[in-house]
Amino acid sequence: METLTEVTWLPVCQTSDVPADGGACALVAGEQVAIFNFARRGEWYATQNLCPHKQQMILARGMIGSTGEACEPKVACPYHKRTFSLLTGECLNADECAIQTYPVRIENDTVYIGWA
Ligand code: FES
Repeated sequence: METLTEVTWLPVCQTSDVPADGGACALVAGEQVAIFNFARRGEWYATQNLCPHKQQMILARGMIGSTGEACEPKVACPYHKRTFSLLTGECLNADECAIQTYPVRIENDTVYIGWA
């Protein structure tokens, strides 16, 4: 049986704070969160900013794109190109642990992160 976790929607920034097809970092409840404006797809994503490979706070500066037949959205760390799914956080090209992902909602040009 699936457990549903209630989330609190926290306002973190304005849409104009995040570059199109790029990312920005916000401090949410004391943690760095990478927010991605995937403008080419009209989608928004959020993950932890910490890359688990070398413990660098860098993922907000990663390159976003799509992979595979399902066009899974992904972010590549700019340091050593570990690539993570923006849907599940799974590492797609190495034996690295998954990263945390967060739901994103846009309302009146404000970006909200779903925080559990
Ligand atoms: S620090 Fe991110 S891939 Fe190495």
